[in-house]
Amino acid sequence: MTWTVWEPSSCVPFGDQQMERFATASSNWNNWKGRIRDGWGTARSLFSLAHPHLLRLRLLDSSHYRSYAAPLFQRYVQSLQPNIDVVDFSTALELLEIDPESVECSLPVLDGYVGLADWDRVTLAAIARSRSPYPAFEIGTAAGSTAILLSLNINDTVFSLDLPRDDTRNQFALPRLSTDDAVIAGRRRASLLEFRPRKNVVLLIGDSATFDFTPYYDRIGLFFIDGAHSYEYVRSDTLNAVRCCAEGGVIVWDDYGGSRDVSRFLNQLAGLGVKIYGVEGTKLAFSRDVERIRESIC
Ligand SMILES: C[S@@+](CC[C@H](N)C(=O)[O-])C[C@H]1O[C@@H](n2cnc3c(N)ncnc32)[C@H](O)[C@@H]1O
Repeated sequence: MTWTVWEPSSCVPFGDQQMERFATASSNWNNWKGRIRDGWGTARSLFSLAHPHLLRLRLLDSSHYRSYAAPLFQRYVQSLQPNIDVVDFSTALELLEIDPESVECSLPVLDGYVGLADWDRVTLAAIARSRSPYPAFEIGTAAGSTAILLSLNINDTVFSLDLPRDDTRNQFALPRLSTDDAVIAGRRRASLLEFRPRKNVVLLIGDSATFDFTPYYDRIGLFFIDGAHSYEYVRSDTLNAVRCCAEGGVIVWDDYGGSRDVSRFLNQLAGLGVKIYGVEGTKLAFSRDVERIRESIC
């Protein structure tokens, strides 16, 4: 099996300009600074799960100490979530009924942009592939990194919702975290999509707590929640996600183990008997137990 996603020798360190341009993204200390080797559009990787050790990381800048610390911190936070099983990638695939022998997905290289960590992107791409051809829905477009990733791995539309570009900080419907305000103030919504347009990405604008989700009810194969991270927002976003999921749909949350509120909410759901799994080495959690979530929080 061919399986080389990382190739340190071909990694290009981030230049000052790129770092400045993507200052918001680079402040995301949870990210490993690994790079995917394959080029844009041709980045197709066949993964052999028998050889996960072939994944190689390269730490590229002075934040590498934090990068080392992040997984440890994450493991610590996850250890506080006794109700949630943290499973390895191959178990996650089995739970998602994805054939673990051959996972093929596309991973874009976005000119130095650091969004989700690479292992998170692999996981999300694999899940997206398995839910194709249903549309995907994402809350939290930011620069558009995950919207592009999803669009490459789904033969259908990717709906991606974010706040308007202008500052709407006083108009939020629900309580939010100050860390969310910092992200909102620093982002340039969909900036990556400006020079990497994707035909199957539909950008939607609005506050996820007041947005009208009814046109998406019962249609979505993968619902990715990565908007505001307060407990109230994650709860509300999850409620909308279950309403939008088609049969067999999967909800994926970012920042499990990385955000206290996200972790607390998911832990409570798991405590109510909802089957939720964290994916080891990532900040992702997922659930296919949509009906039970619906019953638990409606
Ligand atoms: C962590 S970023 C998303 C990153 C993106 N998914 C990626 O990895 O490429 C969170 C995004 O959620 C958006 N956001 C925050 N609160 C929101 C809300 N109430 N409704 C919709 N979007 C929101 C922010 O503007 C920000 O762009």
